Amino acid sequence: MKKVKVRLGSNSYEIHIGRGIFAQVGRQLQASGFADKLVIITNPMVNRLYGESLKQNLIREGFRVTILQVPDGEEHKSLETAGRLYHELSSSYVERITPILALGGGVIGDLVGFVAATYLRGVPLIQIPTTLLAQVDSSIGGKVAVNHDQLKNKIGAFYQPKLVISDISTLRTLQAKELANGLAEVIKSAVVWDKEFFTYLETNLDRIVSLSDRELEETVFWSAKIKAEVVGKDERDLGLRNILNYGHTIGHAIESAAGFKVGHGESVAIGMLAAAKISNQLGILDINEVTRLRSLIKRANLTTELPNLELNRITQAMSHDKKILEGRIRFVLPKAIGDVFVTDEVSLSLVEQVLVGWNEET
Ligand SMILES: NC(=O)c1ccc[n+]([C@@H]2O[C@H](COP(=O)([O-])OP(=O)(O)OC[C@H]3O[C@@H](n4cnc5c(N)ncnc54)[C@H](O)[C@@H]3O)[C@@H](O)[C@H]2O)c1
Repeated sequence: MKKVKVRLGSNSYEIHIGRGIFAQVGRQLQASGFADKLVIITNPMVNRLYGESLKQNLIREGFRVTILQVPDGEEHKSLETAGRLYHELSSSYVERITPILALGGGVIGDLVGFVAATYLRGVPLIQIPTTLLAQVDSSIGGKVAVNHDQLKNKIGAFYQPKLVISDISTLRTLQAKELANGLAEVIKSAVVWDKEFFTYLETNLDRIVSLSDRELEETVFWSAKIKAEVVGKDERDLGLRNILNYGHTIGHAIESAAGFKVGHGESVAIGMLAAAKISNQLGILDINEVTRLRSLIKRANLTTELPNLELNRITQAMSHDKKILEGRIRFVLPKAIGDVFVTDEVSLSLVEQVLVGWNEET
């Protein structure tokens, strides 16, 4: 098992990454000072795959376990679902010391994190992410939220978990498109922070896509380490943490212009490539780096084709995005692979030029 430390003073915690480590969750919780009673919150799909066996493991370790379920899907990441969970937690006599385990993907992690942050002014949260995206990104860093008024993550908080346990064996049951979604965030973390990791991905991506344990574990470990480092330097997203939005300015615009019919990972992949092309047009990023990025994205089974959308719908959606500071659109651009900067100096006409000339080599 590998460990990553998220260093946030008194809110510091560990991320445990390994294969088949669900069997050890009880002992890990005991080592973190928890005993007796706990609540697992998950969805029916993840419960069937992992919830029940996790529950039996925990009972064997002496815990009293309650499982609560919410329906699967982003639309249930809502205040309404949170309200129902508060009621069920209350009926289960959950106290301020009772840990809540968020077992599932990013939707469960964000929703349950939000509930844990607010119920009784905060109960201990344990993240047990089961998608690649959640293991490399959403379970780390304490951003918890629900959607509201059609707006993603509108109501939320910063609330760090006490422990994150990522069992890479759970990734075996993921659908291919969910794996690709996570790989978009993996590639993002390499581009923004670590050129050696990018080279590692170039060498090993095929083994990662075919779920080879060793390479998958290394990938989750490396990505988690990057996220932990960035969050450790800027917990509240006031500066450095912005770099994790690389690919998301145009990515989010594509997602919303397409009415969420283009997947998040695919949108971010196109957004990363677009930002790289913009940087190249500005004379900053070498064209070979753009080519390397395009090739890695394709090998991750993510598309590099621009979806068939009217250009002005994408640019309009960009103007509504929350990554706007005083009317200027904020971009994260690579200077080189492993090194990015944040700027609001990219003109809308340059964005349009890059999108219009999408199929040209740059
Ligand atoms: N908090 C953050 O910092 C942060 C960062 C990125 C994304 N997010 C949020 O994460 C969410 C997306 O997360 P996601 O991509 O994990 O989606 P998800 O949670 O919807 O999971 C995707 C699908 O996979 C299923 N699933 C989960 N684990 C499985 C497994 N092991 N085997 C088979 N199926 C499994 C789920 O039931 C679901 O149907 C969004 O709401 C997004 O806003 C949060």
